[in-house]
Amino acid sequence: MFNIWDYWAGRYDRLWVQKYSLKPTREYIIKALSKYKNTEGLRVLDLGCGPGELIRDLTREFKNLDVTGLDFSERMIEISKERNPSAKHLLMDASDLNVLDEEYDIIISTHSIPYYKEPGDVFKNLYRILKPDGRIFAVFASGNSLYDKLILGFVKLTTGRANYPSDIEFRRIISPFFKVENLEIIRKKFFMPRIGAYTLIKVKS
Ligand SMILES: C[S@@+](CC[C@H](N)C(=O)[O-])C[C@H]1O[C@@H](n2cnc3c(N)ncnc32)[C@H](O)[C@@H]1O
Repeated sequence: MFNIWDYWAGRYDRLWVQKYSLKPTREYIIKALSKYKNTEGLRVLDLGCGPGELIRDLTREFKNLDVTGLDFSERMIEISKERNPSAKHLLMDASDLNVLDEEYDIIISTHSIPYYKEPGDVFKNLYRILKPDGRIFAVFASGNSLYDKLILGFVKLTTGRANYPSDIEFRRIISPFFKVENLEIIRKKFFMPRIGAYTLIKVKS
């Protein structure tokens, strides 16, 4: 079946959004992980890893992480594997996380959540596979204002079906499973939409 992300995979490194959105996001994640006293053996899942640029940066910065990249685009996974031969990779849809029985210390999802058909189901499964004191770093462009919605309407023309949740919508989606520990807004240029960088912790059951 045609997957638009297979088309973008080979072109991804050259996208204009690298400068104002994707690269600053990777820098944010590196900064967030730098706050860990000890990263030795931490199990990290990069959900919707794309062509593995974040995995590359993470493994450069922290030599001892145990990283797995997951994506449902064959081409994205192929490129990430070539780029990151030491990382594990899973070619699968985030909707099928119920088959996964691994547990992770850190789950990262950058610019991927808007494309999940049922994000609520994804977060339900993330609750199951995140260790009790684990963290989720979820970063995505958010349709928070009319301006954001307008800009993201244009972005959507290049990606197909997408829902860029507002802050309220996102908190509602995650609320049965997670709460927001920290929120930073990445906005490198005034014309960029709001990018929310959320750190999530488990709601204790
Ligand atoms: C905009 S790219 C983001 C890639 C990378 N995380 C980054 O920040 O540059 C979105 C990625 O999410 C993946 N994706 C979208 N929906 C998915 C799903 N349901 N399951 C797994 N991966 C998905 C796409 O294949 C694509 O690689």
